[in-house]
Amino acid sequence: MTFPDEFVWGVSTAAYQIEGATTVDGRRPSIWDTFSARPGAVACGDTGEPAADHYRRMSEDVTLLADLGVRAYRFSIAWPRVVPDAAEVNPAGLDFYERLVDTLLQAGITPWPTLYHWDLPQALEDRGGWAERETAYRFADYVAAVLGRLGDRVGTWTTLNEPWCSAFLGYGSGRHAPGRTEPAAAVAAAHHLLLAHGLGASVIRGQARAARVGLTLNLFPVSVADPDNAGDVEVGRRIDGLQNRLFLDPVLRGGYPADVLADLEPYGLGRLLTADDLEVISVPPDLLGINYYRDLYVSSVPDARSGPPSEWVGAENAGFPRRGLPRTDSDWDINAGELTGLLLRLHETYPPVPLYLTENGAAFRDRVSADGAVSDAERIAFIADHLRAAHAAIERGVDLRGYFYWSLLDNFEWAEGYTKRFGLVHVDFATQRRTPKASASWYSQVMADNGLREHDDRAR
Ligand code: FCB
Repeated sequence: MTFPDEFVWGVSTAAYQIEGATTVDGRRPSIWDTFSARPGAVACGDTGEPAADHYRRMSEDVTLLADLGVRAYRFSIAWPRVVPDAAEVNPAGLDFYERLVDTLLQAGITPWPTLYHWDLPQALEDRGGWAERETAYRFADYVAAVLGRLGDRVGTWTTLNEPWCSAFLGYGSGRHAPGRTEPAAAVAAAHHLLLAHGLGASVIRGQARAARVGLTLNLFPVSVADPDNAGDVEVGRRIDGLQNRLFLDPVLRGGYPADVLADLEPYGLGRLLTADDLEVISVPPDLLGINYYRDLYVSSVPDARSGPPSEWVGAENAGFPRRGLPRTDSDWDINAGELTGLLLRLHETYPPVPLYLTENGAAFRDRVSADGAVSDAERIAFIADHLRAAHAAIERGVDLRGYFYWSLLDNFEWAEGYTKRFGLVHVDFATQRRTPKASASWYSQVMADNGLREHDDRAR
């Protein structure tokens, strides 16, 4: 099973999840520093310190990438390093990313930076955070500062990672920083994040004419327990609207879907829109990043295991029944086949845009055994199944151009702290020792072969 020529093979990380060094070289707190210090907010009381100590081990980690044969490295730039306290630009913060980009380029690895992977400067949250329009303008200033330094060396920029999480987990359910539970603020945050994307994209276009710019969304295929039950169908529509179409439609079609606007009317989405917002937001992206981990299976019958309803504003009666599918250590259903349909839906129902899977991965309980090996056959099977699903979409005409495994390293998995290991490389957080897992050498081979060999994941 071979992928198209020029298919981009990579791995992903994010600043707060790996860097540590949160008080070094002028960095100031982000909302995640504040949130993770709050008792009970993060599993085991973990924080982004030390994370994987990547700030200090950057060149060692680039060597790891090079040894694996990774072609593209998706990382994020920390706003609180570059514009600490949302005040002056901090050259020392930019120095780190300049060193990273140059080290990658010297190793023949394409840098693939994301400008916002959830680490809003706390100083901006103190002024209202993403619930305020002003934050989008401050994002554009930050982007200009980064482009001023790196615009001549980076070919592909991503504005935001998963604005759904920033908005609805950050301001709706409060499961993520800043931990607010205000549905109207969540809706405002979604709009202001989209505005930030559009403003940032225009800054990038203005400062680096040859660069490509996109954003990354976490999209979820939604299916309902009983398609003949009108209540289930309605819950499915609302959740698909908030999870997927609220972000896809303004960016790719220039407008919010009418049904989503109506659903969010009580939370004031319509009142936030100024005359040219949608024009700003729909500046045509050069690519769209998709993060795919799992699908959503919903019903109109809430049960004890239902997700926090505030994540799906206006879908208070949603239930998330179990289907007996195998699950990852994050307790997420494994359902690779749904990825094909998701990619086809984008291809068939939205204007053409090159697609990249910018995250896909799974946490399992990986352990280093006495002989120093980490055998993670489940992860190999997980990746192989998702690559097959992606390939099936390509065969049906989908313009999918790359795949990035999440993640290079075990890291700080947000509210789960260090309890969920997604890496191709095991990290002992006490010693910071890196141990490539079996999946690392397997994925190396996939990248080198530009595809899968027959039965080569059957070690499971
Ligand atoms: C995604 C995030 C990423 C990581 C994975 C497991 O939602 O973008 O940072 O936590 O989930």
